[in-house]
Amino acid sequence: MCGVVGAIAARNIVPLLIDGLRRLEYRGYDSAGIAVLTEQGIERVRRVGRVAEMQAAAEAVELAAGLGIGHTRWATHGGVTEPNAHPHISRDQIAVVHNGIIENHEAQRERLLALGYEFTSQTDTEVIAHLIHYYYQSTADLFEATRLAVRELSGAYAICVMALDRPEELACARMGCPLLIGLGEGENFIASDVSAVLSATRRVMFLEEGDVARVSRQTVQVIDGQDQPCERPVLLSDVSLASLELGPYSHFMQKEIHEQPKALSDTLEQILEQGFTPDLFGEQAASRFNEVTGLLILACGTSYYAGLTAKYWIEGIAGLPCHVEIASEYRYRDAWADPNYLVVTLSQSGETLDTAEALKRAKELGHKTTLSICNVMGSAIPRASDLVFYTRAGAEIGVASTKAFTTQLLALFTLAVTLAKQRQRLDEATETSYLDALRHLPGSVQHALNLEPQITLWAEQFAKRHHALFLGRGVHYPIALEGALKLKEITYIHAEAYPAGELKHGPLALVDEDMPVVVIAPNDSLLEKVKSNMQEVRARGGELFVFADLDSHFHDSEGVHVIRTPRHVGVLSPVVHAIPVQLLAYHAALARGTDVDKPRNLAKSVTVE
Ligand code: F6R
Repeated sequence: MCGVVGAIAARNIVPLLIDGLRRLEYRGYDSAGIAVLTEQGIERVRRVGRVAEMQAAAEAVELAAGLGIGHTRWATHGGVTEPNAHPHISRDQIAVVHNGIIENHEAQRERLLALGYEFTSQTDTEVIAHLIHYYYQSTADLFEATRLAVRELSGAYAICVMALDRPEELACARMGCPLLIGLGEGENFIASDVSAVLSATRRVMFLEEGDVARVSRQTVQVIDGQDQPCERPVLLSDVSLASLELGPYSHFMQKEIHEQPKALSDTLEQILEQGFTPDLFGEQAASRFNEVTGLLILACGTSYYAGLTAKYWIEGIAGLPCHVEIASEYRYRDAWADPNYLVVTLSQSGETLDTAEALKRAKELGHKTTLSICNVMGSAIPRASDLVFYTRAGAEIGVASTKAFTTQLLALFTLAVTLAKQRQRLDEATETSYLDALRHLPGSVQHALNLEPQITLWAEQFAKRHHALFLGRGVHYPIALEGALKLKEITYIHAEAYPAGELKHGPLALVDEDMPVVVIAPNDSLLEKVKSNMQEVRARGGELFVFADLDSHFHDSEGVHVIRTPRHVGVLSPVVHAIPVQLLAYHAALARGTDVDKPRNLAKSVTVE
């Protein structure tokens, strides 16, 4: 999705803007641009393609300035062309970069055309530039003109604005899209994502919905959605610069797959220290959990699959009903609501629009308590929730989610056990065995990572196929779904997942010798059932690729290939079995030569509908 940066400093901010945009590249984009204030006026460089191409163009003209804004664009309104790339400029005086979608842009466009403004792009953003320009004529105040303009917009925006005759300030505003201000020493920054300001400062102020801010080198002035002056807290970001660098790896996805033992250990630290206590989820969690009669989990994509896995734990261990729903569906339906159902949103980024809107909808429908499990400190969804659990996976840059998924599973398992304990459904021996299982989890995940050479050989065969089927049962069915999603999003191979018991109700018709069938088959209570489902596949000529553990007692035979983890890890087995399906997708993508970290048509943070 689009990325926004802005900077005001006594030094040349062009390298800072470009560095910030480079760090936003992972979000997905198709063009980039910057505008800076020089003695010549507002100078702008835009390019379709990579930030590097825009950087080369900026360096060629030796662009240097103390104030400027920049953008990476992921096309929504209008094609991928240079005229549609941001920043957009109104009458050489106002320049704007924008994330989000302006819903009333057509009406505004008509109005601005009638006022004599000319449009040079097909974007919804250009109306913002002209509207601010329009108000700037009467107010001569960039902040005030921005405030008046955004109050007339409907839709979602995070904008950063500069004016030709305002070398001492920038303005910015947000609604529905994240925006923060990075506070330096005698210099300040604006960005849609903390990674863009980290090389300059760790001190960040997250803006809230409806906020408009005036940002100078020394000061920041904020008003809220009711136009009242307000203070926003200053936080110290815990994102490390190292997590934003590739290091010895070829891709961020590869790095992040291999970081999982550490991501899990880091997330586990507080759990092992405190035990299964509600405090892990926030100060008020103990009293709130007492009232809980069920759970409603809302999420998208991979996070949704983490929720589906959790349903087995919540119902099986905590004995509470658990509904899991895709956020983009939930937000638009008249869902039945029990106020005492705890709403749990799962989001790596904390800014997925559908999940944020589903959370809002759940509150409107009367749910009393909301919990966010999230990987990005201070992002929109945890800020809108009563309770928060932060996974400590570190920045996830690859578009395909990996370490965020396994740490979400860890958080959800902990939630299930904590609720069970609070409901007095947990005896001491079981509690100890769960703590032990958690303690061993990073090691078991490392064992699974050690299977990489064998998985690579399989991946080379998958790379030549056009379709694949993933099967699992019970708590491993969501892992089959996740395996299919990973494969399709980064290799573009068509993949589907089914609970193995569903095969004979339709999908078995797809099975022939050209259909590789991946089966997640650890030694759990459904193993015998899975084995007979596998027979159904073999009998139709399907080739089986089985992820099992030593205790499943599978061996290679004709048409059956087996990779085994050393031992069965019990209740946390889905976390361990997530690793081989991630590695399979990664190596199949390498063999096919696709852009692993930035798969076509996808973006990391989905901040639009
Ligand atoms: C798939 C993937 C997506 C995200 C989904 C939700 O690999 O990464 O399906 O899981 O877009 O994103 P978050 O978790 O940031 O809300």
